Amino acid sequence: MSSAQHPRAAPAPNGRGVSWARQTPQCYGGPGEQSPDCFTTNLIPWECPPNVMILATERLLLREFTAHDCHAVLAYQSDPRYLRYAPWTYRLRENVARLVQDFIDWQDELPRGKFQLAIALRTNHQVIGTCGIRMATGHAQQAELGYELHPDYWGQGYATEAARSLLAFGFQTLSLQRVWAQCVAENTASIRVLERLGMGQERRLRQHAWMQNRWWDMVVYAMNRTEWQERTEIVE
Ligand SMILES: CC(C)(COP(=O)(O)OP(=O)(O)OC[C@H]1O[C@@H](n2cnc3c(N)ncnc32)[C@H](O)[C@@H]1OP(=O)(O)O)[C@@H](O)C(=O)NCCC(=O)NCCS
Repeated sequence: MSSAQHPRAAPAPNGRGVSWARQTPQCYGGPGEQSPDCFTTNLIPWECPPNVMILATERLLLREFTAHDCHAVLAYQSDPRYLRYAPWTYRLRENVARLVQDFIDWQDELPRGKFQLAIALRTNHQVIGTCGIRMATGHAQQAELGYELHPDYWGQGYATEAARSLLAFGFQTLSLQRVWAQCVAENTASIRVLERLGMGQERRLRQHAWMQNRWWDMVVYAMNRTEWQERTEIVE
């Protein structure tokens, strides 16, 4: 069962009952002690500052990114197993630093439209991936779902667990009407995650993406609010 702590209880401009304000990134050691090089350490014990958004599942904490998470993201985004269906053939530190900074910048949006969260193990707070639910604007009624994990943690149901929590957040808290996801048609693991969530394939986009020097078919999966409600009732 997922639970969410919301940063500010003030009425939101988007009418969703919650306004999302940027929190000062706080890592273990306290404010003002951030390393000048966010790649220097692998595992930063992470303490949840008050009022920071966090989704808790049975085995995972989905929480806001800080600059200290760059190392963990680079670790898996450089792995050849991860890169198989990625838009890139290699990853540099500066690429990952920019990406993580984007995730942090999104925390400032008001009304907030993009929630890209670090996936951390509850047992030791190790960051093993990221997942996100992203609207085009903070007022949108639909959002894109995405997830990625360090290959060492594949096949244990973590992506499904994280994505299920994000779906609930999207439909319950953000009052979305539709959540969709797009992935490479050959990416069996990702498609299995979408199917396990109960999302249905809407279309196949033939030779839609140019990556790694070739064209790839993409598939779009989606779930609407009614489908999610029916499925949640069945699961419960
Ligand atoms: C897609 C991804 C997040 C799945 O993560 P995961 O934690 O292994 O997923 P889950 O364990 O929740 O479920 C995965 C399903 O795919 C299967 N699976 C896992 N790894 C697989 C692989 N390498 N090849 C084929 N199937 C695989 C699992 O057996 C499971 O299916 P099942 O229900 O029939 O047993 C992970 O493979 C990944 O990070 N890939 C690279 C990034 C990516 O492709 N992201 C998605 C972009 S749309």
